[in-house]
Amino acid sequence: MKYLTFALAKGRLAKKSMKLFEQIGVTCEEMKDESSRRLIFVNEELKYRFFLAKAPDVPTYVEYGAADIGIVGRDTVLEEGRQLYEVLDLGFGKCRMCVAGPESAGELLRHHELIRVATKYPNIAKDYFYNRKHQTVEIIKLNGSIELAPIVGLSEVIVDIVETGSTLKENGLKVLEEICPLSARMVVNQVSMKLEQDRIRDIITNLKQVLDTEQ
Ligand code: PRP
Repeated sequence: MKYLTFALAKGRLAKKSMKLFEQIGVTCEEMKDESSRRLIFVNEELKYRFFLAKAPDVPTYVEYGAADIGIVGRDTVLEEGRQLYEVLDLGFGKCRMCVAGPESAGELLRHHELIRVATKYPNIAKDYFYNRKHQTVEIIKLNGSIELAPIVGLSEVIVDIVETGSTLKENGLKVLEEICPLSARMVVNQVSMKLEQDRIRDIITNLKQVLDTEQ
């Protein structure tokens, strides 16, 4: 039997995913040792392999078949636009992709002004402003602490993830428009979905059962 390989987005999502997988018997003892510097973890008996990757790289590993299955936020799935199947909403990591800024920027959005938009998600921002709103904007790619941009005058608004809203609040910013809801997703390589159909289908069915009873 071939290994079934899972790519997990490092951090909170990976921890929650492993807890969920444990409930359906997809386990990996090796991974529980938090001091370990190993990059890949194996369950020899069940023929599973797991590795942790930076979130934006998870869809890449899955598209190329280096991982059969990936667990990553919907924000990353949308931003990366890779060829893969999005098969399941895992229901955790819930948040929203929003346009945010100082209240005064609401007027600029309403009048479709040529504004600057800072974001870690240029593709999502482009799709939202160009295809959905038909508003021409200048998109500036940043790599983190996006809320800084309107405060220091880099941009009028930002496109970013809002979870509790406290980062915005503490920096005097507001949600001005909502783009879409987000949560953790399970994605599958398109060839693996055929070649490993039975094993992957079983995992999806079992996960759905657990998620349904949890709701
Ligand atoms: C994310 C996001 C916001 C914040 C939202 O940042 O970019 O800054 O969390 O959460 P809240 O609504 O609960 O305050 P993250 O901590 O991932 O770091 P980053 O700034 O480096 O993107």
